[in-house]
Amino acid sequence: MSSSASAPLHMIDLIRKKRDGGSLDAREIGFLVTGAANESIPRDQLAAWLMAAWLRGLSLDEARALTLAMRDSGEKFSPARLGKSAVDKHSTGGVGDKTSFLVAPIVAACGVAVPMISGRALGHTGGTLDKLESIPGFRTALPLQKFEAVLMKCGASIIGQTKSLVPADRVLYALRDRTGTVESPGLICASILSKKLAAGLDALVLDVKTGSGAFLRKPEDSAYLAALMVATAEAAGTRTVALLTDMGQPLGHSAGNWIEVAESVELLRGQCPAQSEDLRELSLILAGWMIHLGGQAATPELGYSRAEKALADGSALRAFFAMVEAQGGDVSVFDNPGFHSPGATRLVSAWESGFISAMDTTALGWAVQRTGAGREKAGEPVDPHAGIDFHARLGAHLEKGQPLATLYATSPALLAEPEAILRQAIHFSSTPPQKAPLVSRIFTRESAEALLRAPSNS
Ligand code: URA
Repeated sequence: MSSSASAPLHMIDLIRKKRDGGSLDAREIGFLVTGAANESIPRDQLAAWLMAAWLRGLSLDEARALTLAMRDSGEKFSPARLGKSAVDKHSTGGVGDKTSFLVAPIVAACGVAVPMISGRALGHTGGTLDKLESIPGFRTALPLQKFEAVLMKCGASIIGQTKSLVPADRVLYALRDRTGTVESPGLICASILSKKLAAGLDALVLDVKTGSGAFLRKPEDSAYLAALMVATAEAAGTRTVALLTDMGQPLGHSAGNWIEVAESVELLRGQCPAQSEDLRELSLILAGWMIHLGGQAATPELGYSRAEKALADGSALRAFFAMVEAQGGDVSVFDNPGFHSPGATRLVSAWESGFISAMDTTALGWAVQRTGAGREKAGEPVDPHAGIDFHARLGAHLEKGQPLATLYATSPALLAEPEAILRQAIHFSSTPPQKAPLVSRIFTRESAEALLRAPSNS
């Protein structure tokens, strides 16, 4: 049943329509999004609709209408007065994924503005805002005027959705987190792109995760998500590229809040332990694309070289510290080794000898969440010092008893469940596993549209 243009709409009808496999039209989606944003639709009804959408999937038209309605649900940012190109990147979510703390200052140091609207922990994945708030004083809720002022001063600023900025995503994001409705291409597309399109970007780089820690694990599903997002953002007028990147293990050595910020600053300071090499490489690749799309390098490869230079000459570190200070954060903690003060610490050693052959990275993400680094209920505080440091990567050969991971939480009682999950999630074998490429595919508008036109997707 398609609603006639003047008939009154009722949320119960939209839930039943989606439940029964129907498609909502733009007016119905607009009604739902407005009701989510102004909180006139009760959360139980929104949750029911989200589950119906998760189970039935959204058509291309629905995903696009949802994206645009969510983008328009609040005020928007215009980067026009910054006087330079504005380019951002967004990841579909992973474990230990802290590239934002590297790419934002690197790209800012190369003369491209990075107005980043980000999110909190979602499902088994960590949240950029929760991580930043582990820096004492750091404020992620800024009015747009202040956002602009930080961008003018530092070239980069990272903030979250608010009651006035993409308010529909603020509500739906938190609901999806606690109703098991995260892993849906249409919902992910609308959630990510509503934030990015509300920032008025000139260009966007998407880091679409694939593998055991991604929301959509199979390469064909992650490729569909990448294509859907690129085509939707391009149709809305934003030049967009998506990279399909490996999430078959945590990115870098840490997964939590403060420990991820600390690892990023270690890299910004020019130190790169072997465990962080994938993080450094992916950050440089993403930054290279952003610098290229921002007009500061003729190719992504030349952008990569500029990014490397900004990392090496300290300008990216300076941009990061400037942003932290401008958003109220206390940078002295980065020189205070005693700042990382979890209530309880436990070293887990290899329980057998062999190569680390596989990781269930989604399970590892839940283990991190259960240390207290993530939340069980909306609005709960997270523990800034909780999380897991991984001492070995996929393919490493360990002898029984060698260090595998260190767990942090506020109390020993909170360590039992994460340790049990970790022991189930990491597998050893007598032969090394095949290494997955860090970047397996790149989608531009043409390749995205071609994939969506393929008979299996139409
Ligand atoms: N990041 C978002 O902002 N939304 C999602 O749904 C997934 C990742």
